[in-house]
Amino acid sequence: MPSLARLLGLAALAVSASAIIPPGHQGALNQTVNVSENDTPTTDNESIVNTIGQVNQKSGAATHSTPPSAPVPPTTVTALDSSLTNTTLTDVASNSTAPSSRRRRSRPAKRFADDDLLPAKRQQSSYTQVFSGLAPGVHDASIEGTAYLTYTVVPNSTYNVDACLDWCDTVEDCVFVNLYYEFNDYLLDFVFSQQSNLVCAAYSDIHNATEKINFGGQTSYPQVGNETVPLTYITQSSGWAADSLTEPEDPDGYTLVFGPTGGANNAPGYMGFAFLSFYDVDGCAALCNGRGADPVGGGCSYFNIWRAVVDGTPTTYTCSMYYLVANETTAVNYGQGDLVVTYSRGYSRNNLVIDGGFEGYNACDDFCLTESYANWIGSSPSGGDYDASIIHFQDYAHFGQSSALLGAAFGDDADAGTLTPAQKLKTVAGQTYVVQVFFSSSFSSEELEGPAKVDILWNGKRVGGTSGFVASYTFTQSDTVVGTGSDVLSFVGGAAPAWTFVDDVKVFEV
Ligand SMILES: *[C@@H]1O[C@H](CO)[C@@H](O)[C@H](O)[C@H]1NC(C)=O
Ligand SMILES: *[C@@H]1O[C@H](CO)[C@@H](O)[C@H](O)[C@H]1NC(C)=O
Ligand SMILES: *[C@@H]1O[C@H](CO)[C@@H](O)[C@H](O)[C@H]1NC(C)=O
Ligand SMILES: *[C@@H]1O[C@H](CO)[C@@H](O)[C@H](O)[C@H]1NC(C)=O
Ligand SMILES: *[C@@H]1O[C@H](CO)[C@@H](O)[C@H](O)[C@H]1NC(C)=O
Ligand SMILES: *[C@@H]1O[C@H](CO)[C@@H](O)[C@H](O)[C@H]1NC(C)=O
Ligand SMILES: *[C@@H]1O[C@H](CO)[C@@H](O)[C@H](O)[C@H]1NC(C)=O
Ligand SMILES: *[C@@H]1O[C@H](CO)[C@@H](O)[C@H](O)[C@H]1NC(C)=O
Ligand SMILES: *[C@@H]1O[C@H](CO)[C@@H](O)[C@H](O)[C@H]1NC(C)=O
Repeated sequence: MPSLARLLGLAALAVSASAIIPPGHQGALNQTVNVSENDTPTTDNESIVNTIGQVNQKSGAATHSTPPSAPVPPTTVTALDSSLTNTTLTDVASNSTAPSSRRRRSRPAKRFADDDLLPAKRQQSSYTQVFSGLAPGVHDASIEGTAYLTYTVVPNSTYNVDACLDWCDTVEDCVFVNLYYEFNDYLLDFVFSQQSNLVCAAYSDIHNATEKINFGGQTSYPQVGNETVPLTYITQSSGWAADSLTEPEDPDGYTLVFGPTGGANNAPGYMGFAFLSFYDVDGCAALCNGRGADPVGGGCSYFNIWRAVVDGTPTTYTCSMYYLVANETTAVNYGQGDLVVTYSRGYSRNNLVIDGGFEGYNACDDFCLTESYANWIGSSPSGGDYDASIIHFQDYAHFGQSSALLGAAFGDDADAGTLTPAQKLKTVAGQTYVVQVFFSSSFSSEELEGPAKVDILWNGKRVGGTSGFVASYTFTQSDTVVGTGSDVLSFVGGAAPAWTFVDDVKVFEV
C-alpha cells in the first residue's frame, strides 16, 4: 500500500507533467540549451605571437652528439598553449582514445640504406644554391635553423656538392642542405669511420645566409699535457634548396580545406595551440585527435598549421586546434610587425556521419518537425508516435538551428524511439572510431527527466549513452568502436516526458 506522501508525490508529478507543453508543440525548455557559434572563443593570436617571441628551435649539425646518418628524431612539441615545453607528441596527445601502439608515427625514424640498397627508381631532385661559402681558408659559419633533421659526412677529396644533394634525396622531408668543412673536430677526424670533415646537414625547411651563426670555436680535441687545444672552425659553408617542395599528404582521417596561403585562421571554436619542431601535418592531426574535448564545443574537428617567419627567418610551426570547422574565409591573420604567416593550411577531421548537426532539415523558417528526412530516419515502435524526430527550432539546437529528439514529440506515449543516419557509415574495415555527441535531458524538469536514457548503438551493440537529468547540452563520447566497412549507428531511447535532445553527432577515426 503506497504511503500518503508517495500518493501526493505522484499526483504532483502528474499535474506538473500534464502542465508541460511538449517539444512537438514548441513547448518552452525548462533550461536554456542553445549555444551560438559566435559566442565561442576565437584564435588567441596574441598569445601565439607572444610565445613565438620566446621559442628557440634553432639547431644544426655543429655538435656531433650522434654519428653521421643518424635517424631523424621524432617531432617534438616545443610549446603548448603558451608554455614552452620539450615533449613528444605521444606525451602531449596521450588524451587520444587511440591505443598509442596503433597511432601512426608522424615522422618514422628512418634508417639510411647503403647506396646499393637504395630503391632503383630513386627520384633525383634538382636543387638551387641559396648561398655560397666564403673563400677556402676564410673562417665561415654553419646554419643554426629550424627543422634540422640529421647530418652526414661526404667524401672530402673535393667540395662534394653532388654527394650531399644525392644524400638529401634519400632523407625523408629533406628540402635543404648546408655543406661545410669543419676543422678540429675530434670525432670527425679520429672517431667516425667515414674519415671526412665535409659535413652535410639536412633540414626540412629552407634557410638562408642570415642564419649562418655557428662559427665553431669549441674545444673538441682532448687536452694533452699543457698543449693548447685547437678550436673548431668552419669553412666554405654553402646552402642548397630543393626546387620543388612536396605537398604534404592529408593526415589519416583528415581532408585539406585550404592552403597553402599566407593567412592563419582567426576563427571561432578555438581550443588552443602547440608549436612543433617540424611542419608536421600528421603531428598536428595527432594533437587534434588527442586534445581533450571542450565542454561547450566537443572534440577537436579542425586544425590550422602554418610557419612563422620572423625577420625573414623560419621560427616555428604553429598548430591551432578548433572544435568548429573553419575555412579560408577566416584565414585572415597574415602576421604583424616582423612576423609573417607562411604555408598556412587548414584540415578538417572527417566526420563519417552525414549532416551530424541535423542542419539539413530546414523545412521552415522558425519551427517544424519531421520523423525523417534525407539524412536521418526516426522510427517508433508499433503504436508509438513520433518517438524519434528531427526538429528545426533554434532554441532546441546545440549549434545551428536543428536538433533531434528522442521520446514522443507530442507526449502521446512513453515509448523509446530510434534515430539512425539514412545511410550506413562508410568506415574502413578494421579501423577504430569513436562516436561524439551532445545530449540534453532537461526539457521538462529535473524530476521528470530523472528516468531519461539514451543508448548509442554500433551495429546494435551498446557502446555508450546518457542517463538521468542532463542540464543543457553535455558532451558524450562512446567507447572505441571498430569499423566493418558499412556500419549502422543508432540512438535509442526517450520516454516522454523524459525527453532527450541529440545534436552534433560525429564519428571520428582515432
Ligand atoms: C523547471 O522545472 C522546475 C521543477 O523541477 C520548476 O520549478 C521550474 O519552474 C521550471 N522552470 C522553467 C523555466 O520551466
Ligand atoms: C590578431 O588578429 C586580429 C584580426 O586579424 C588583428 O586585428 C590583431 O592585430 C591580431 N593581434 C595580434 C597580436 O596578432
Ligand atoms: C629536448 O629534450 C631532449 C631529450 O631530453 C634533449 O636531447 C634536447 O636537447 C632537448 N631540446 C631542447 C631544445 O631543450
Ligand atoms: C678529410 O677529412 C679527414 C677527417 O676529418 C681529415 O683528416 C682530412 O684532412 C680531410 N681531407 C681534406 C682534403 O680536407
Ligand atoms: C709545459 O710543460 C712542460 C713540462 O711538463 C714544461 O717544461 C713547459 O714549460 C710547459 N709549457 C708551458 C707553456 O707551460
Ligand atoms: C586532456 O584531457 C583533460 C580532461 O579532459 C583536459 O583537462 C586536458 O587539457 C587535456 N590535455 C590536452 C593536452 O588536451
Ligand atoms: C633571407 O635573407 C635575406 C637577407 O639576406 C632576407 O631579406 C630574407 O627575408 C631572408 N629569408 C628568406 C626566406 O628569403
Ligand atoms: C566558410 O565557413 C563559413 C562559416 O562556417 C560558412 O558560412 C561558409 O559557407 C564557408 N565557406 C566555404 C567556401 O565553405
Ligand atoms: C538561442 O540563441 C539565440 C541566438 O543566440 C537567441 O536569440 C535565443 O534567445 C536563444 N534561445 C534561448 C532559449 O536561449
